[in-house]
This record gives sequence, structure tokens and C-alpha cells, in this order.
Amino acid sequence: MQQDRGQWGSTVGFVLAAAGSAIGLGNIWRFPYVTGNNGGAAFVIIYLACVLVICLPYLLAELVLGRHTQRNPVGAIAAIKRHTPWPLVGGLGVLTGVFILSYYAVIAGWAFGYIFKTVVAPGMPHAEFAASPAIVVPLFAIFIVLTVLVVIGGVEHGIERWAKILMPILLLLMFVVIIRGCTLPGAGKGLEFYLMPDFSVVTGRVVLEALGQAFFSLSLGMGAIITYGSYLPKTANLWVSGTSVAIFDTGIALLAGFMIFPAVFAMGKDPAQGPPLLFEVLPEIFTHMPFGGVVAVLFFVLLSIAALTSTVSLLEVVVSFFVDERRWTRSRAVWVVGGIAFVVGLPSLLSQGANTTLSEMSLLGNTSFLFIMDFLWGNLSLAVGALLLSIFVGWVWGITRAGEEMNQGSQAGPGWIRLWGFFVRWVCPVLILIVLINLFGVFGE
Ligand code: TRP
Repeated sequence: MQQDRGQWGSTVGFVLAAAGSAIGLGNIWRFPYVTGNNGGAAFVIIYLACVLVICLPYLLAELVLGRHTQRNPVGAIAAIKRHTPWPLVGGLGVLTGVFILSYYAVIAGWAFGYIFKTVVAPGMPHAEFAASPAIVVPLFAIFIVLTVLVVIGGVEHGIERWAKILMPILLLLMFVVIIRGCTLPGAGKGLEFYLMPDFSVVTGRVVLEALGQAFFSLSLGMGAIITYGSYLPKTANLWVSGTSVAIFDTGIALLAGFMIFPAVFAMGKDPAQGPPLLFEVLPEIFTHMPFGGVVAVLFFVLLSIAALTSTVSLLEVVVSFFVDERRWTRSRAVWVVGGIAFVVGLPSLLSQGANTTLSEMSLLGNTSFLFIMDFLWGNLSLAVGALLLSIFVGWVWGITRAGEEMNQGSQAGPGWIRLWGFFVRWVCPVLILIVLINLFGVFGE
């Protein structure tokens, strides 16, 4: 069984693929608008603290569980504690994968559509674009099909090779946009908003959003890293590869902020305008630069690719479950799950102006079906999943056994294991729990 599952060619291959999963719309589209909504710099600091204190130790826990068991999230947990309710945590992860994919591909379809929109209809307002079913339904369908085709074809040879070439180009283009944005008159105000913290705006809700954003951005809490880690050879150094993924991902998110905020303030726009932020602001910057049209097309091509490597990982988790546990063929699993994600995604797709009921519904301050889904699955479910999984690795499987696996392929001393163990057993569950309780108002704001 283990021989059939395949492995990454190298640790670098894994880091690239996992970074490809992590880096996506979460960094470039979601991070800036969530930062904008939550007051700027103070949010960024809380976000960075969450990454360091909660997400990095937790990421290593998912990684070590995946490599040890060589299984999908359900199978990995069952391999350690069969005949208990624990594998249901993996099941929650698989379910979460379907739901996140369903609305994530909607936004990814927008990014894909903007490649053409910047050329064909640059003047069309974003709201009108997102509310036109004739435009967004085909884009959404195309994006789901693209994801399906990549996952059928095997992640290692397609996407991994692409990511190697295209991620550096995305980085380069981001620098081009950053330089243009920062040299616009009035850009300084944006840097101030992004870098000078005002902690008076911090509430319990802000902390939950920061934690949720950190989990989402690193693809944590639903077993994506378990799945990708399951294809790692025993010789790989988990400390180094896990930390590299976190550094890449966080770096790209921080750069996205530098790309957006100076320009937002220079052009007198509202940083707290929410999800349309990137789609409203970037096309305007492009009109203010030489060869802006070319840069715009390139930028949205690369953003689409970054999104594709993320949708691929979402689909891969669900597919690996059906292939490992239900013995489905890969192609059957891929088409069935892709089809389900499409159907489940339709209400999200139509909730951006096309249908009034779906667009105006609201839950705990999140408006529209799409953003309610994002809150429930992209925030809440990831935090609950991570809470349970850190308890599972830290207490049920145990740091001693997990530590032995950690140290295959590396020579970290016992002090490191103990430190990591302390974070996984205590810091992660306790802090996540506090944030969750706070959300439901037990501690008040
Ligand atoms: N991390 C990706 C992004 O930032 C999205 C993503 C891919 C994801 N796989 C995931 C989020 C698994 C949560 C869980 O765009």
C-alpha cells in the first residue's frame, strides 16, 4: 500500500508543493482585506504572533502525523487510534476541504476572469462583474475543471514543476507593484496604517480573525499538511521543511500588504471595504504604470496559478480520503468531488449580487452566503479542527512517539522536542480554546 502512494521527489519538492498549497488567495486577496477591516498594523502583529506561537508548532504536528502514518487525515488518525471517535476529526477535515473548495473556487474564478477583464472591460465595476451570472458561472466551472485536471494528472509532475518557475515570477511582479504603489504621492499614510499599531482597535473578534487568517493561509486545521506530509520520505528534515513553508507563506502575505495599502491610501480609498479590496485597487494601480496592461494580465495569470495550487491541495485531501479509505479510483474520486464542490459552490457564487436573498443574509457580522461559508469553514472549522488535532498529537498519540518520528531525518536535541511538545500540548489547545470561547461571547469583547 505504501509503495503505491508515491512520494515527493525531494524535500525541496515537498516544500514547494506545500508552499504552493499555502500561498494563494489567502495571502494575496484575503490577508490585505482582513487586515484592512481589522485596523491595520495591530492586526498584523497579532497575526504574526499567532503564526509563531500557535501555527508553526501545530504545522509540525500535522506534518509529523502525516509522515508517520502515510495516510489521509482520517486514515492517519485511525492508524493511531482505531475504534474511537478520533477519526471523525479527520472526517471534519475532509468535509471542510469540500466546503472551502466550493467558495474558494468562486474567488479563484474571479482572478482568472480578471486576466481577460483587464483587457476587454477595464471600466466595468467589480460589483457588476461579480453579480453577472453569465460571466462568473463559466469562470467558476472552468476553475473547478482546471483543478480536477491537475489532480487527475498527479500533483508531483504537473503543479510542482510549474510552481518552481511561476512562484518566483509572482514574487518579482509583486515587487514591481509594491514599488509603483509606494512611490505614488500619499502612499506614506498607507505604510503608517500597515506598520504603526493602534492597539485600541483590538477586540476578541480581531484576535479570532487573526488566528483564523493564519490557519487559513497556512492551509492548517483540516489535514492538508497531514496529506502532503504523508508523501514525505523518512529522510526529510521535518523541522526545516515545516519552518520553510511557514516563512514563505507569511512573507508573501506581508508583501501583499505592502502591495495594497500604500496604493489604497494614495488613491483615497477605504482600506476597510472588505473582499473587493484587491479587485478594486490593483487595476487602478496598473493604469498608473507604464506597460500597466501587460503587468495586469501577468499579475492575474500568476494569481490564478497561485490559487490553482491551493485548490489542488483542497481537492487532493478529499480525494486521498476516497482513494485510501473507500478504494475509489483516483479519477472517479476527483470528478465526483469536483462535481459536489461545484454544486455546493453555486449559492456562494450567486451571493455576490446576483441573488438578493443569498447576498443579504448575514451571520455574526458576516454578510452573504459566501462569507458565511468562509466564516464557518475557513475560520471556525479550522480552529476547531486544530484544537482537536493538537490534543490528539500532544496527548493521545503523545510527544514521545511523535518526537521519535520528528527526529527521523534530523538531529534536533531533546530540548527542541520538549519545547515543541510544550507548545503542542499546552499553548496551542489553550489559546485556541480561549479564542473560540471568546467568539461566542462568554468572556465578552
Ligand atoms: N492556504 C491557501 C491560501 O492561502 C488556501 C488553502 C489551500 C487552504 N488548502 C487549504 C486553507 C487547506 C485551509 C485548509 O490561499
